[in-house]
Amino acid sequence: MSLHLGDTVPDFTQDSSEGPINFYEFAGDSWVVLISHPADFTPVCTTELGEVAKLKSEFDKRGVKVIALSVDTSENHKGWIPDIDETQKTQVNYPILADSDRKVSHLYDLIHPNASATVTARTVFVIDPNKKLRLTLTYPASTGRDFKEILRVIDSLQLTDKYSVSTPVNWRQGDEVVISPSIKDPEELARRFPKGYREEKPYLRLTPQPDL
Ligand code: BEZ
Repeated sequence: MSLHLGDTVPDFTQDSSEGPINFYEFAGDSWVVLISHPADFTPVCTTELGEVAKLKSEFDKRGVKVIALSVDTSENHKGWIPDIDETQKTQVNYPILADSDRKVSHLYDLIHPNASATVTARTVFVIDPNKKLRLTLTYPASTGRDFKEILRVIDSLQLTDKYSVSTPVNWRQGDEVVISPSIKDPEELARRFPKGYREEKPYLRLTPQPDL
């Protein structure tokens, strides 16, 4: 099944490095980042999972739970985690789903057969507290992901959910944001954006980030 932005993500129960997990129970009312990786005891995956462990406090700050997945068994995961901890100088502090029967991989379309018929691609899902899919991206096995980019997107999603703004190219925390073109009434503009705005074009108006 292929998931599209805005879809409600499917629930599942699966084994993990921390025992069986029901996904909806795990998610609760939080945001969730679900990351798949191809295989245990592989170099790029080792660096990725270590980096995610180091960024855990950044995910926590944003109210985001992290869960990883590969098609290996929980015994394999438990054997591999000490290697991640040792080589990446961290402690894996989130569960890794053990999808050896590929139940979740099929539900979430994580196996891309023309890349590899057997292992999962490097996919990231950002899921909001309503279990809606808000971001998906897929990288090839040979390319490790940039998890600071995932944090940047979460910051954008959480900001744009709260205010009638969007974030422009290469936006970072503290940069100007774009006012929704649908807001035209001057009184509403003044009320919503008390810091003012500058108009480059009628459809391109920039205002200081509202929550700072
Ligand atoms: C890796 O993590 O290094 C890797 C895993 C599967 C295929 C290629 C690379």
